[in-house]
Amino acid sequence: MEDYFSKASLEEIFLDKKIILGVTGAIAAYKSVEICRQLVQLGAHVIPILTQGATNFVGPMTFSALGSEPVKTSLWDSQDPLLHTRLAKTTQAILIAPASANSIARFALGIADDLLSSVVLASKCPIVIAPSMHLEMWEHPALQNNISLLAKRGVKIIEPASGALAGGDFGKGRLASAEVILEALGGVVAENNSSIVQDFKNTTVLVSAGGTKEPIDQVRYLANRSSGKQGHALAVSAHKRGAKVYLVTASDLEADPAIETIRVTTSDEMAHEVLKYSPQADVVIMAAAVADFKPKTFFDGKLSRSYSPTQLELQSTTDIVSNLVSRQKPSQLIVAFAAEATGGLQRAKEKLKDKQVDLLVFNDISQPQVGFDYDTNSVTILSKQGDVIVQVPVMDKVKISDIILDSIVKEMEKRHQAKNGVE
Ligand SMILES: Cc1cc2nc3c(=O)[nH]c(=O)nc-3n(C[C@H](O)[C@H](O)[C@H](O)COP(=O)(O)O)c2cc1C
Repeated sequence: MEDYFSKASLEEIFLDKKIILGVTGAIAAYKSVEICRQLVQLGAHVIPILTQGATNFVGPMTFSALGSEPVKTSLWDSQDPLLHTRLAKTTQAILIAPASANSIARFALGIADDLLSSVVLASKCPIVIAPSMHLEMWEHPALQNNISLLAKRGVKIIEPASGALAGGDFGKGRLASAEVILEALGGVVAENNSSIVQDFKNTTVLVSAGGTKEPIDQVRYLANRSSGKQGHALAVSAHKRGAKVYLVTASDLEADPAIETIRVTTSDEMAHEVLKYSPQADVVIMAAAVADFKPKTFFDGKLSRSYSPTQLELQSTTDIVSNLVSRQKPSQLIVAFAAEATGGLQRAKEKLKDKQVDLLVFNDISQPQVGFDYDTNSVTILSKQGDVIVQVPVMDKVKISDIILDSIVKEMEKRHQAKNGVE
């Protein structure tokens, strides 16, 4: 069932949204003029793109006059050589109305031989297609296959209406009415209009959380006071900001079912799972408090009182962060945490030098309300070079997560610019 939006709510939905209006070579192209006008009236910023086919049916000038910016008809004649990718990145939705059988086939096949098809192929935003053609074309299996393929990929298809067709024929193929198209587009934009910036879209983030437990015998273990709250909050924030998140957690906290969560107990399990998932991750955030030492041997049973505690020999655990750094992909960003008490910032800087991670989040656990088990934290984020990027006073761990993610985004952007130049 389609959602029904009143004009007032459509205005709220479309206000300041960048919408590409693609017009293709179908007889109903003239109806797109009215759609363009109404979208602009509803507050949208409309960028009209016409295919060469469309220019045989309607004058580009009409769209330049009614749209929010001059019409675009070619990949090649813009001042901006990367127009198609820029448009694709900055647009909230693409509406193609009318969509010709030919353009639908090109979208389905991923052909990018003109501006509109290139933008469609380069974009991650929602796409709404309103086909319009003669009944025979609409019913053709080739067209129907292309429509199902696009629908399967998440493209919203607005079925044509039945009625009088060009040439005196009658049947299904008329462009759906402007009202139906705008409502459907409004629904799609509203659905995707989260106020949360999706700056982690297409990014895979691996977060480790919680304190590991290192078994001594069947009853006892060595553990630490980490609750896992900061790591879990980071996983939730990254997920809300569009990331695909893997959460490897040693904490008993519940995890959001939308987040792929891997439960572990020991440092060995933590190391195994983190190193298993890290090749897929663009960003690895090691927020877990992994034990530095573990009992050398596991006693199968319960050690009795007569057992001398000095016999409990310890050995170092796997250094997960160093392992991650030694296998780091050039595009990957690794963030480590350092909870320090005495000697705070200086020790954190030493850890940074030693581990060579891209960002280090230091929390001074000697401060009140900071670190283990609290809902609040206070962090200092250090760059790889040891510079303090951000100093965050005591606040909620959820807010701290967003500040950490902001620093990660800035670091990723810096790298992207350094690597790609103008690309
Ligand atoms: C008079 C006329 C009307 C046409 N009407 C339609 C139409 O309504 N729907 C359609 O899919 N194709 C229609 N076509 C065919 C397309 O214009 C043709 O396939 C063109 O290559 C589409 O180009 P485009 O998809 O790049 O815009 C029509 C062609 C002509 C000559």
